[in-house]
Amino acid sequence: MIRKKLVLATSNQGKFREIKDYLADLPVDIISLDELSAAEDVEEKGKTFSENARLKSLTWSRKLDGLILAEDSGLEVEHLGGKPGIFSARFSAPRPTDEKNIRKVLRLMAGVPWNKRRARFVSCLVLAQKGKVLKEARGEVRGFVAFKKKGNRGFGYDPIFYYPRWRKNFGELDPREKNKVSHRGRALRKMKAFLVAFLGGPTKAKGKEEGG
Ligand code: IMP
Repeated sequence: MIRKKLVLATSNQGKFREIKDYLADLPVDIISLDELSAAEDVEEKGKTFSENARLKSLTWSRKLDGLILAEDSGLEVEHLGGKPGIFSARFSAPRPTDEKNIRKVLRLMAGVPWNKRRARFVSCLVLAQKGKVLKEARGEVRGFVAFKKKGNRGFGYDPIFYYPRWRKNFGELDPREKNKVSHRGRALRKMKAFLVAFLGGPTKAKGKEEGG
């Protein structure tokens, strides 16, 4: 039987690993844009995570065969009016890096007390095929901006995102643990349920979500 292709439309290796790991037991071949030598970025012109995820998945679904799964995600800090939000990846533009983005958030939050450091990660996943959206799923996780970095796992803002239920920063979690409670894990759980029904194939139970 020819297996369907599921293209993960992201050039962010951190995201790619987490999404691929979560969906690994589905009866599809999961491939990256890099493997298709198709990695140029789609301009994120949208004003919301949803608009940007739709833009990315629809654009790639018109260029490539198979199912296209795109994600837009970011960190929203209450004290900063929701920033960096959709600008999370580019917060320290013109030459943004995870390290510089973290330093900028910590600088803007210097002297802000614990009770005003609430933040959340948001993930919006969009699955498309041949120019049509098949499913959209959103997930979020609430926590705090830590006073300093902890842990060197994950990517992006993980080292400064404190998850109170586990009293740990995301940077201290291994990817499977993070997927159980993260914004991406929560969105993926809904997307996976859709994909299981859509593909009509069996799947082993995996990546059980925790509340929080
Ligand atoms: P996007 O590729 O435009 O969706 O940008 C997502 C950006 O949000 C990443 O580059 C990170 O800076 C941040 N981000 C999203 N999800 C996570 C996460 O799970 N951990 C840490 N940072 C994240």
